[in-house]
Amino acid sequence: MTAARRDLSVLPAADWADGVADALAQRIEARPHLVLCLPTGSTPRPVYERLPAALSRAGAATRQASVVLLDEYLGLPAGHPVRCDAQLHRQVIKPLPEPPATFLAFDVDGPDPAAACAAYDAAIERAGGLDLVVLGLGTNGHIGMNEPGTGPDAPTRVIELAPSTIAAALAYGADPPPGHGVTLGLAGILAAREIWLLVSGERKAAILRAVLDGPVTTDVPASLLRGHPGLRIVADDDAWPG
Ligand code: PGA
Repeated sequence: MTAARRDLSVLPAADWADGVADALAQRIEARPHLVLCLPTGSTPRPVYERLPAALSRAGAATRQASVVLLDEYLGLPAGHPVRCDAQLHRQVIKPLPEPPATFLAFDVDGPDPAAACAAYDAAIERAGGLDLVVLGLGTNGHIGMNEPGTGPDAPTRVIELAPSTIAAALAYGADPPPGHGVTLGLAGILAAREIWLLVSGERKAAILRAVLDGPVTTDVPASLLRGHPGLRIVADDDAWPG
């Protein structure tokens, strides 16, 4: 990848997804026990499509790795295709030549989502902590479901979704859309050894500028990632024309 500045790598849009998939496969090859937190959404989807081929190119095996879901909607029934656990299973887990050792998802079907959040953090800790968190970037600067106003100490928790996140869920086919979700908190994200923020497409250009060059502020939760020693932002040249 071409390092453009600081923590930023910019790839031509046509090569971006292959570049990210290869980088991910190389991480897994280097650390077979990788504890990897993954998002859903339109940004990582082309990366996930390319992952099996990238793993094969890298000679990487996933059977010892752990995959951890970044966030989840509340109120959608188990198996609903828009549920984040269903999306990640369909797009990542199922196409893998061999399943990972663990696929950790939130227990949102039980009576107490707040308790499920505490259990989630405990399970991540038992797994040895997150090695790598991969994130998409919301047009409002959110990461996971950590919406504007979220501070760096925010725990894994139940949250009220921002209108743009609700609209996105509706667009994906959740009708009626959920109003709440659970998300790995900013504290949990910042505790990871590495963070990769994936940014693609022109519609993310303005928020990427704000994340990189604007103030570090809870108004733009992704700006709080700046200063994390393991932060890497991988953009395509539609999102960062230079
Ligand atoms: P997107 O969403 O990848 O679908 O653009 C990113 C996000 O809102 O976190």
